[in-house]
Amino acid sequence: MRCRAWLLLAALLQGILASEEVGTDPLTNLRPDNVTGLIYYLYRWTGSYYNGSTTIRLQPQDNIQSSTCVGQGPIVVSFNSSLLAVTQTNGYLLQENPTGANPLAFNLKLWLEGLNLLPSENMNDGSTEDIQEISSVQMNTKDRPDDPTAAPPWKLVASHDAALTYSFQGYHNPNVSAQALRFNNTQCASLPLALYNGTLLGNQSSVLSNLSVTTEPRVRGIFSNESASLEIKGIYQGYSESGSALGGNVTIVFNGTIDEARSDRLMSNTLGSAPVWESTLGYTKTLMGETPVVHVGAGNVLGVGWGLRACVLGLVVFWGL
Ligand SMILES: *[C@@H]1O[C@H](CO)[C@@H](O)[C@H](O)[C@H]1NC(C)=O
Ligand SMILES: *[C@@H]1O[C@H](CO)[C@@H](O)[C@H](O)[C@H]1NC(C)=O
Ligand SMILES: *[C@@H]1O[C@H](CO)[C@@H](O)[C@H](O)[C@H]1NC(C)=O
Ligand SMILES: *[C@@H]1O[C@H](CO)[C@@H](O)[C@H](O)[C@H]1NC(C)=O
Ligand SMILES: *[C@@H]1O[C@H](CO)[C@@H](O)[C@H](O)[C@H]1NC(C)=O
Ligand SMILES: *[C@@H]1O[C@H](CO)[C@@H](O)[C@H](O)[C@H]1NC(C)=O
Ligand SMILES: *[C@@H]1O[C@H](CO)[C@@H](O)[C@H](O)[C@H]1NC(C)=O
Ligand SMILES: *[C@@H]1O[C@H](CO)[C@@H](O)[C@H](O)[C@H]1NC(C)=O
Ligand SMILES: *[C@@H]1O[C@H](CO)[C@@H](O)[C@H](O)[C@H]1NC(C)=O
Ligand SMILES: *[C@@H]1O[C@H](CO)[C@@H](O)[C@H](O)[C@H]1NC(C)=O
Ligand SMILES: *[C@@H]1O[C@H](CO)[C@@H](O)[C@H](O)[C@H]1NC(C)=O
Repeated sequence: MRCRAWLLLAALLQGILASEEVGTDPLTNLRPDNVTGLIYYLYRWTGSYYNGSTTIRLQPQDNIQSSTCVGQGPIVVSFNSSLLAVTQTNGYLLQENPTGANPLAFNLKLWLEGLNLLPSENMNDGSTEDIQEISSVQMNTKDRPDDPTAAPPWKLVASHDAALTYSFQGYHNPNVSAQALRFNNTQCASLPLALYNGTLLGNQSSVLSNLSVTTEPRVRGIFSNESASLEIKGIYQGYSESGSALGGNVTIVFNGTIDEARSDRLMSNTLGSAPVWESTLGYTKTLMGETPVVHVGAGNVLGVGWGLRACVLGLVVFWGL
């Protein structure tokens, strides 16, 4: 009863709000930046986001004499703070490079636990130096990527496996600079801590003489409205700060579960194999979840968030009279 006044006022406000929505680029995959509390530089794109952990498992190749700790078995390093984004492809890539563009994009980020992620007010690239990334494309920070015809770092194909489950697979594009990867090897008794900096080798990279590279690094992933996993296999070549070499087969595995609050609604593609999302975060959804809607008559849908604000405003106006 008290809120009759705000309903009226809200209806007026809605007209104003509706006219402010123009200007969103229909080709971009960038989300609106008005989601309160979102660490925007981690969650910039329309898609699904999974919290999880990444395990790097490297089998040092025994006949590389300069490797440290040869014969010790695999080196296993885990990054428990990992975020996998599986996102919509930017529309400019599809428009300007229809045969070269991937049907989706993935972006895996790894960092050491305890890293101070920049606060949500920071729209820029955040603590990027301390966050490692493996991305299928140069993830865009502008509506239109700088060079929409550039070859993507990973070439992917997608398939639609079940209602809300999709998978993808592909290989690292040999035309693009090799995927970098660094980690601390703490398992070597003779070296308490060795930071290795290196790359996943492709058939065009220079290689330690005893590593044989027969294929580009491979990726496969599966994701749904609940969880995701990703596996990358390749051959690693890296050097420690003291110059010792490490090389061999490497597998990078991510497993995670969806962060629903920060994901858009994944949809079933009834026409093809590419995943589709309904852009919900920033539109009908806030970080707290779906915004319930109030029907204000035919064709009028109003977010309660706005309704409440309007209510407060309405009451202020009411008491003022
Ligand atoms: C490669 O392997 C051969 C035979 O095991 C060994 O003699 C040679 O030193 C190795 N090369 C390097 C660079 O480790
Ligand atoms: C990562 O998580 C695993 C399993 O939960 C745990 O065994 C391991 O100690 C954690 N690693 C770090 C560096 O916290
Ligand atoms: C990638 O390289 C191959 C030959 O190495 C070339 O034929 C192809 O055009 C290149 N593709 C792009 C997108 O640059
Ligand atoms: C390696 O360990 C050092 C010391 O703890 C840390 O500063 C650095 O960030 C670590 N690097 C990686 C890639 O884990
Ligand atoms: C790791 O190697 C790349 C080149 O492969 C170089 O650009 C980068 O600065 C190196 N990083 C560190 C921490 O040494
Ligand atoms: C490099 O790898 C790509 C993809 O696997 C393959 O098409 C190409 O023929 C390879 N190039 C050479 C020189 O082996
Ligand atoms: C995911 O989708 C399936 C199939 O539509 C549904 O049964 C399930 O409840 C959904 N899970 C979540 C967490 O929404
Ligand atoms: C590396 O992996 C390939 C393919 O899985 C395998 O054929 C090869 O034997 C492995 N090499 C080593 C040294 O483990
Ligand atoms: C990751 O998930 C896959 C498939 O669900 C499973 O086989 C694998 O054991 C998991 N790995 C880790 C490190 O949790
Ligand atoms: C996922 O991780 C982020 C921080 O990295 C955290 O803010 C968020 O609450 C997590 N979500 C879930 C569902 O665990
Ligand atoms: C956020 O921005 C989008 C796109 O401009 C708009 O549709 C939406 O209404 C805005 N949400 C809020 C709460 O302002």
